[in-house]
Amino acid sequence: MDRTVRIGMLGCGTVGGATARLLRDHESEIIARTGCKLELVKVAVRDPAREREIELPPGMVTTDPMAVVDDPSIDVVVETIGGNDPARDLILRALGNGKHVVTANKELLATHGTELMTEAARRSVDLLFEASVGGGIPIVRNMKESLAGDRVRRVMGIVNGTTNFILTRMSEGGLSFADALAEADSLGYTEADPSADIDGHDAAAKIAILASIAFEGRITYADVETDGIGRISQADIAAAHDLGYEVKLLAVAEQTGGAVSARVHPAMLPKTHPLAAVRDVFNAVFVEGQEVGELMFLGRGAGGGPTASAVVGDLVEVARNIVSGGSTPSAGMDNDIELLPHDEVRARYYLRLAVADEAGVLAAIAGSFARSDVSIASVRQEGRGDEAILVLITHVASEGQHRETIDAIEGLDVVKSVRSRIRVEGTREQ
Ligand SMILES: NC(=O)c1ccc[n+]([C@@H]2O[C@H](COP(=O)([O-])OP(=O)(O)OC[C@H]3O[C@@H](n4cnc5c(N)ncnc54)[C@H](OP(=O)(O)O)[C@@H]3O)[C@@H](O)[C@H]2O)c1
Repeated sequence: MDRTVRIGMLGCGTVGGATARLLRDHESEIIARTGCKLELVKVAVRDPAREREIELPPGMVTTDPMAVVDDPSIDVVVETIGGNDPARDLILRALGNGKHVVTANKELLATHGTELMTEAARRSVDLLFEASVGGGIPIVRNMKESLAGDRVRRVMGIVNGTTNFILTRMSEGGLSFADALAEADSLGYTEADPSADIDGHDAAAKIAILASIAFEGRITYADVETDGIGRISQADIAAAHDLGYEVKLLAVAEQTGGAVSARVHPAMLPKTHPLAAVRDVFNAVFVEGQEVGELMFLGRGAGGGPTASAVVGDLVEVARNIVSGGSTPSAGMDNDIELLPHDEVRARYYLRLAVADEAGVLAAIAGSFARSDVSIASVRQEGRGDEAILVLITHVASEGQHRETIDAIEGLDVVKSVRSRIRVEGTREQ
């Protein structure tokens, strides 16, 4: 064994604690795989008295994160604090000091990724972030390396375990959204403030990162059109089942012509689509490549062990680079790229309308669709009298056309309300 790679860690909670455990328990395999010892030498936390997954030797723990990023003996900094502040300043400082950085922080990468990558490139050091998307699923390295000879057309993922659990319980257990959320909470699957998951923001950060890798350009969290699952009702789930669909929170990035779009929203997926079978807290990323065709990566998107597996995989890559004198390129993620205006993104829709039960309703509604040039693929009526409900599925049209149609429908006397509108994805018609 030639050398020791010295690691400093910022944070030692769920991910940091499991990372420290893996470095200890997998030490001999890591030495065999890298030719060097990966030694954790300093760990910064907020509260040194807190009980942790592994006991850290006295003298290793500090409450001063600067003591980690400024320590000249440290080669690599692992950031597991999370959030933008102080993680951004600490990582910039570590990179500026010539240290490689491994992070699990999707929020930071999706907001300040370009700035961090520019600094890493300027200092010729690695900035790796496999754990930031899909936890333990090795998707970042596969997209950057194994698919480097292909052209990715579309990436579609279930990248938030909490919302996937809630939708699974609504679909399989018949629970309301509120009851499924309460069950997720009782099992410890929700954050103190569940809105980042429920409203789609966590998934938006992840698809921004995946889109940047897939399409080699700068796509930030702010570029992602985001909608959550809070409005999904049991009526929508039942209608989806009747039509042969499941409802999932999807994160989608695609290239149309030369422009790229990224979005997060609930979607109806045919039960035969591989993503429709992804249940509970599992995550999956479905990639469509020009030559390779369809691929799916499935696994645990969160949890200490799975996420630490990805962090330590990155540390092994850094160690190999240190031994070989190489570095991992940023894969063009900071290039300028053309974004497709949201109104031009094309989609199909499921619409659920409460209507008057009288003659001429269908003709009036069909007229609104025709005026915006949106064609209807199927219509069915549920109930009669006060509760007449029309369920429509459209063919593909632009978001702008769909919005225009819905505005027109909402203005019709015969339409009492548009109860829901959910995109339909994963059909051959795109
Ligand atoms: N948890 C997952 O399943 C998962 C999955 C994928 C990605 N991630 C990402 O991984 C990162 C860490 O998540 P986590 O779940 O491990 O968080 P966590 O359990 O809350 O741990 C955060 C750690 O950071 C420390 N910390 C916070 N502020 C600090 C400061 N100013 N200075 C020094 N230390 C500080 C905390 O110290 P104390 O222990 O003393 O409080 C704690 O050890 C986040 O970016 C998250 O998005 C997490």
